[in-house]
Amino acid sequence: MKSVVIGGSGLIGSKLVTKLREAGHEAVAASPNSGGVNTLTGEGLAEALKGASVVVDVSNSPSWEDAAVMNFFETSTRNLLTYEASAGVGHHVALSVVGTERLPESGYFRAKIVQEKLIKSGTIPYSIVQATQFFEFLKQLADISFDGKKVRLPDALFQPMAADDVATAVGRIAAGQPINGTVEIGGPEPFRLDELVRRRLTSLNDSREVIADPNARYSGAKLDERTLVPGSNARLGETRFETWLTQSAGKAAAVTR
Ligand SMILES: NC(=O)c1ccc[n+]([C@@H]2O[C@H](COP(=O)([O-])OP(=O)(O)OC[C@H]3O[C@@H](n4cnc5c(N)ncnc54)[C@H](OP(=O)(O)O)[C@@H]3O)[C@@H](O)[C@H]2O)c1
Repeated sequence: MKSVVIGGSGLIGSKLVTKLREAGHEAVAASPNSGGVNTLTGEGLAEALKGASVVVDVSNSPSWEDAAVMNFFETSTRNLLTYEASAGVGHHVALSVVGTERLPESGYFRAKIVQEKLIKSGTIPYSIVQATQFFEFLKQLADISFDGKKVRLPDALFQPMAADDVATAVGRIAAGQPINGTVEIGGPEPFRLDELVRRRLTSLNDSREVIADPNARYSGAKLDERTLVPGSNARLGETRFETWLTQSAGKAAAVTR
């Protein structure tokens, strides 16, 4: 099975390419900086998709500004589906976010809603994987929620997971039959957003204060207690936050030594 991983140089994409290869599949990383493939312009797509049975889209927009992110997911997804039809690709797998359909107040999530709709209304058999927030994203979440003085976050629940577990789950789905539907994946334990971001910053010796603010928004959207929490059928990754923290702290120490 040849699979093409769009965004194969990214956080999830690079792990996914390795896992697919370890499982004995041919996996090609495709992105502007890996193989000169650009889904926005179509550059390199026809060549990359030749002979592919599966395309896994784990790309992300370089800019999260409302218009830019909408243009990215809309144009890229349209191009991908068109080139996949010409190449005879039989399975389009896309990584999205748990709760996307509940977050239309956010420009980023409006773009993910459009991405999902294009896939669902297209002709290519598909599997949409909605993942919860990655542990690796917590620092960036602090950065985008920082008002210059404090990190302000709603105290809503979420159930984040390790990027490694995301890649494992996406790899399994890519190797299977299209489900023509959506699968949710999440982490093993729920937390409050402010609580976990505070713990992550402490582990990084980042002294910024994290405040639970009921008026704070998440990526521009107001959250209810369970907006970000997956349903009871979600497939849960094994890695607990404390285990990941020890591993990632250990890795960071090894790099600086
Ligand atoms: N962050 C979270 O907590 C979270 C949670 C659930 C789901 N997700 C979803 O997970 C997906 C992947 O996220 P990530 O953090 O792994 O992304 P990432 O590390 O930021 O990587 C983004 C990838 O997209 C590629 N890319 C950018 N522009 C492209 C273009 N024009 N054509 C083709 N590829 C392009 C980049 O390639 P170059 O390196 O070559 O530029 C890179 O490989 C996203 O769709 C996101 O919505 C994220």
